[in-house]
Amino acid sequence: MGVKIGILGLGTVGTGTVQLLLSSAGRHPMLKEIEILKVGVRSPEKSREVELPFGIVTSDIESIVTHPEIDIIVEVMGGIEPARELILKAIENGKHIVTANKALISRYGDEIFSAANKAGVYVMLEAAVGGGIPVVQPLKQSLSVNRINTITGIVNGTTNYILTRMQTEGSSFEDVLADAQQLGYAEADPTADVEGLDAADKISILASISFGGRINLKEVYCEGIRQVSQTDIAYAEKLGFVIKLLAIAKRNTPSSSPLSHSPLPTPYSPSLSVRVHPTLVPVNHPLASINGVFNAILVEGEPLGQVMFFGPGAGAGATASAVSSDILNLVALLKASTTSLNPLLTCAHQDYCQISPIEEQITRFYARFLTKDQPGVIGKLGTCFGKYGVSLESIVQKGFQGELAEIVVVTHDVTEGNVRKALAEIRTFDAIDSIPSLLRVL
Ligand code: NAP
Ligand code: HSE
Repeated sequence: MGVKIGILGLGTVGTGTVQLLLSSAGRHPMLKEIEILKVGVRSPEKSREVELPFGIVTSDIESIVTHPEIDIIVEVMGGIEPARELILKAIENGKHIVTANKALISRYGDEIFSAANKAGVYVMLEAAVGGGIPVVQPLKQSLSVNRINTITGIVNGTTNYILTRMQTEGSSFEDVLADAQQLGYAEADPTADVEGLDAADKISILASISFGGRINLKEVYCEGIRQVSQTDIAYAEKLGFVIKLLAIAKRNTPSSSPLSHSPLPTPYSPSLSVRVHPTLVPVNHPLASINGVFNAILVEGEPLGQVMFFGPGAGAGATASAVSSDILNLVALLKASTTSLNPLLTCAHQDYCQISPIEEQITRFYARFLTKDQPGVIGKLGTCFGKYGVSLESIVQKGFQGELAEIVVVTHDVTEGNVRKALAEIRTFDAIDSIPSLLRVL
């Protein structure tokens, strides 16, 4: 029996999600069991990138959350109201929820999760943080046995995209922001991105999951990127830093806790520092090389040590991946209640995949030759590679090893079989002493 879903919103994320769900080939087989029953929008007459059968798209969003056949409500409309009321009503009607709405969860998570727990339904929010990066479920499941000490993240795609282009191209803030909006990265009101508020929403969600307590968003210190100038970017570069908007949540050690000397009882346990601000990051730090719309979240826990989650932090496809994986988790759960095993925890390995023989696999190669110092050797090498369809990216002769000249070749993407054939012939050349190295190039 299929699982019926209702989607609230058919904008950037809603459209990406519908497209993913409707193109299940090559994806998890359980996707085929999902039926999109209704999609709620503000203006049903608007032309859309996805075509849905007549009657599915409606502006009567209330009828979706109370629809008796719908099992899961996917809220990708954004904003606080009516999203909050609709989610609460859906929960009241026994629906599981998938949401990408970090602004709502960071402000009303308490109310929503309490209602969900009472109703015995789940609220899934993978897409709320880090776009397509799986970080919420890993923190809730795979890493939950660790004592998390610090989370340091680049969690806003728009601002990272802006800062990267300001740094690499010297582009102006306003121009790049317009591009980020056009690419679907920015919020409907990009103030939330630029002022760091979106990152604050996300770090409070991550902190809440990782440290096991509620986060009062008003207590999260927040500075945006508006004041970051080209001059600061240039000075930072000279000093060996890049400027990134970091969201940081840290467990205070007893001695570092600002509350440790307070006579008042600690209001939350544990005591945390949670903040968002532009930060000079040393160029050799793992977060320094996270550019463009990419996000990364560096988690430090005990006993694990450091683990970093990296990937596209915004945009239709990336976010649809996270939303759809939450939907699939719920579908698996609904199915597991009727069968004995959770289909996402079992392994599908009854059939063998076809693995290409190594001769047919394609990669680039680096080869180093030691040759007699004769005229025409480079030409002969080039001709022989050409004979076997091996196209060369570069061929250089830099030095000597004793009497022998050292020639280094890097190929374009070629089949391993053709390289082997060419090298077999090259080995027969009089001028070739040996081929000491053959390495593959990524
Ligand atoms: P969007 O492009 O502005 O789309 C919003 C959709 O919701 C539109 O289809 C709109 O209908 C509908 N909608 C809004 N208010 C409505 C109302 N009152 N009644 C009925 N329909 C309404 O937004 P988005 O970028 O997809 O973002 C959606 C959510 O995902 C937000 O919470 C956002 O923070 C989150 N998110 C976005 C991204 C991203 O990369 N964009 C990534 C992660 C999370 P119309 O089409 O008729 O106007
Ligand atoms: N506006 C958000 C960003 C979307 O730029 O990161 C993803 O949450």
